[in-house]
Amino acid sequence: TAAASGQSLSLGFESIPGSMTDAVVVPPGYRAQVLIPWGTPLTTDGTAWSPDLSLTPELQARATGMHHDGMYHFPLDPEQASSDFLLVVNHEYIDQSALWAPSNGATNPKQGARPADEVRTEINAHGVSVVRIRRDADGHWAPVTGDRHNRRFTSATSMELAGPVRGSEMVMTAWSPDGTRVRGTNNNCACGHTPWGTYLTCEENWPEVFTNSGERTADQKRLGMPTGRGRYGWETAEQGQEGEFSRFDNTPRGASAREDYRNEARAFGYVVEIDPYDSDSRAYKRTALGRFRHEGCWPGRVVEGEPLAFYTGHDARNEYIYKFVSKKRWDARDANRPGEHYDRQSIGASYLDEGTLHVARFNEDGSGDWLALTPESEIPGGGPNGERTLGEVFGDQAGIIINTCDAADLLGATPMDRPEWGTVDPGSGDVYMSLTNNSDRTAQDTEPTFTDGAAGLGALGAGFDTAPVNAANPRPDNNFGQVMRWRETDRANRFEWEVFLFGAPAGAGNEINRSGLTEANEFASPDGLWFDERGENGEGILWIETDNGIDKGRDNAVAQATNDQVLAIVPGALARGDTRQTGQQLRRFAVGPNACEVTGIFATPDRTALFINIQHPGNWPASDDATQVTKGQVRPRAATVVIQKEDGGPVGV
Ligand code: FEO
Ligand code: CA
Ligand code: CA
Ligand code: CA
Repeated sequence: TAAASGQSLSLGFESIPGSMTDAVVVPPGYRAQVLIPWGTPLTTDGTAWSPDLSLTPELQARATGMHHDGMYHFPLDPEQASSDFLLVVNHEYIDQSALWAPSNGATNPKQGARPADEVRTEINAHGVSVVRIRRDADGHWAPVTGDRHNRRFTSATSMELAGPVRGSEMVMTAWSPDGTRVRGTNNNCACGHTPWGTYLTCEENWPEVFTNSGERTADQKRLGMPTGRGRYGWETAEQGQEGEFSRFDNTPRGASAREDYRNEARAFGYVVEIDPYDSDSRAYKRTALGRFRHEGCWPGRVVEGEPLAFYTGHDARNEYIYKFVSKKRWDARDANRPGEHYDRQSIGASYLDEGTLHVARFNEDGSGDWLALTPESEIPGGGPNGERTLGEVFGDQAGIIINTCDAADLLGATPMDRPEWGTVDPGSGDVYMSLTNNSDRTAQDTEPTFTDGAAGLGALGAGFDTAPVNAANPRPDNNFGQVMRWRETDRANRFEWEVFLFGAPAGAGNEINRSGLTEANEFASPDGLWFDERGENGEGILWIETDNGIDKGRDNAVAQATNDQVLAIVPGALARGDTRQTGQQLRRFAVGPNACEVTGIFATPDRTALFINIQHPGNWPASDDATQVTKGQVRPRAATVVIQKEDGGPVGV
């Protein structure tokens, strides 16, 4: 269809209509299967799921967690990479009403002390699952229960801190007096992977499970730690050992940080590296990549002899986009050797513990700058007390990392419309990132406002409450979101950016519907992204997933027209800077059941199976067939869904 550009790839399906049924809808000729829904036993001593199963801490620790989000695949035998591999999947958060159905026996999470085993069960429903999965000759997928790789990481699993924050006074606690370890990874949203065969899981809305009932520190304020009860009241449980539950209360109580848990939450907010191949391996929090509400972490183009880049975003209104550049240059001898047993975490340390973290400034003329967050970095206009450099404000690199967003404020980074997923076109190196929406984006020429009423850039512990539109975030009260893309230029720390695609309802005027979307492809709140490289020319499909559900209060015209969805486009042949042309090429591929968001995405290397996650469904699935409409009430379960062609051919084309 785009022969002039030499492009041969085109989408092989027609846009499907919007849907508001309790089922996954796919194009004609496709089928969709439910795989590893919440509560699937991973070990042979687990208990099979039943709708009246009462979860215990032990059962939940041996089964998949709740609310599947980011995920990735790791081959065991490269020859079988499309039919037998390790699936690693995040469990972002919990739905207590589903977790505690049908007994309704749970205590009110908002009131009183919570029983220890309820809290342990909830903690074990968070985190990450590693599970081997296999496709049989009929194209049906199933977990390999009891495989030696299968394991869970939960919000209680002991993990290592690595990078600049390891051993810092700022992370010393009664349980880890040398500041090197922590229990748990929490609110694992999106993900990433490395060329040496490890998984990156990213901690997003973790501040909400902690509390500090005293005077909050600057980083606690900036990142939104509650002052009253934590999100589930975990800190109220009794009978725990060694601060098992009291660690969620960060109020200073002892004479020093080594006697209490005032620093517990400072061991959260990171990119966490997991080696799925070694079931004895520990998880490492790679603190050099910054501390904030990390959505995910996406590797840039991998080039022999060049440093590696990892792109990350802070999903909060008017927060920033970051890039970490490794000090070590890529050595192809470090590339993954699937199935082999060796120490991938020491390779991870060599690339992820030393390097430079940068934050993005999107200039009005379409250029951009990566601003280095180091102690030597000069502060334009000076710090809050006249400091010249970030080092003078925050001390060392550990201080900059703990306060990543405040340091980024001081350098003049551009506040964005909630950065969510990124993905990289490995051919061109183009980076795509979704900006999901921003109700606190104000009109041109309004003054920005700051948390806690602090005025002016550099008010530590502040951040922008509202920010006026700019070229990269051009719509005030942005309900619908956009997808950006940028390309690194030859000049160090410079890039060129454009808005690739604007979300909008079909019926909106041109000021809102800037990509000219129609009923066939209207969408809002883009979230999951994956660039699906195919063929020799580096062509690929960009897949876009949405999180616009009406359950979150975004009751907009798109939510009235369709449930959350998966869209696809081949960006290769499109003119740069023509967002209306992009809108014409975009097609709707799949729609999720009621009340869910659609997230997590990859395809097998042969592209015959596309994996997505259905998160927080309201009343689904009815059966193993993801497309079967649920009738009556079921206990809802987030699940992975595998979409395949009935003829076994590649998906999307
Ligand atoms: Fe968990 Fe920003 O999505
Ligand atoms: Ca997300
Ligand atoms: Ca989202
Ligand atoms: Ca989510």
